[in-house]
Amino acid sequence: MSAPAATGVRSATRARIADRTLRTDRWWITPLLTVLGLTVFVVYATIRSFVRTAYWVEDYHYLTPFYSPCVSASCVPGSSHFGVWVGELPMWIPLAFLSLPFLLGFRLTCYYYRKAYYRSFWLSPPACAVAEPRAGYTGETRLPLILQNVHRYFFYVGFVISLVNTYDAILAFHSPGGFGFGLGNVILVINVILLWGYTLSCHSCRHVTGGRLKHFSKHPVRYRIWTFASRLNTRHMQFAWITLGTLIITDCYIMLVASGTISDLRFVG
Ligand code: FES
Repeated sequence: MSAPAATGVRSATRARIADRTLRTDRWWITPLLTVLGLTVFVVYATIRSFVRTAYWVEDYHYLTPFYSPCVSASCVPGSSHFGVWVGELPMWIPLAFLSLPFLLGFRLTCYYYRKAYYRSFWLSPPACAVAEPRAGYTGETRLPLILQNVHRYFFYVGFVISLVNTYDAILAFHSPGGFGFGLGNVILVINVILLWGYTLSCHSCRHVTGGRLKHFSKHPVRYRIWTFASRLNTRHMQFAWITLGTLIITDCYIMLVASGTISDLRFVG
């Protein structure tokens, strides 16, 4: 594919090179894998969020994160850890309507995912030193992309939702006889720890905890928190991908146990 005439690297004042890029490596692999990975997650999460089956294991109190918090009368008995706030919901409203839109907004406005989908879906640019297919570029200066600046508010809500997921994971140490511990707990706890890793490694977290300060010496506590967030932040991309995987694994495992396809490996209870 050739770049549009007279823009970017084809501008009149630039050296005359006919190719779109002179790179000889397989630069298209990363955008391709990104499209595949994000598509698989979005399709899986959308289907699971709407089907309303096999999301709660009564015996062990396992609740999949895709249905948390469950606050409507449509939720199966026992799954509403925070009470029932609304009546029956039509099928087109997911039972986790309180969290899913914010989680979607949190990931959609995430600085890492923006890089990922700007490159892989919008080819803006497809890779470093590979010419873009379009002539115009306004970045994030106009609607709707200027709204990406509200990311910190999604971070605040994402923080609260991580608390909710933590509460769910703690309540899941249950068996019909009282305390219980099974493989499902291991999966739920690992998922929650990694979700905290993703949430606390957020660029907005780094900014609000200490990144916006000028004099660290006057704010020793915030400096320590900022140092911690900064360390995590260097792994933000990894947390972003790993948590997509652990969310699918967690949901899938609970779906298999709840549907009776497999039984939970119990260590206690
Ligand atoms: S930058 Fe990725 S979650 Fe905030």
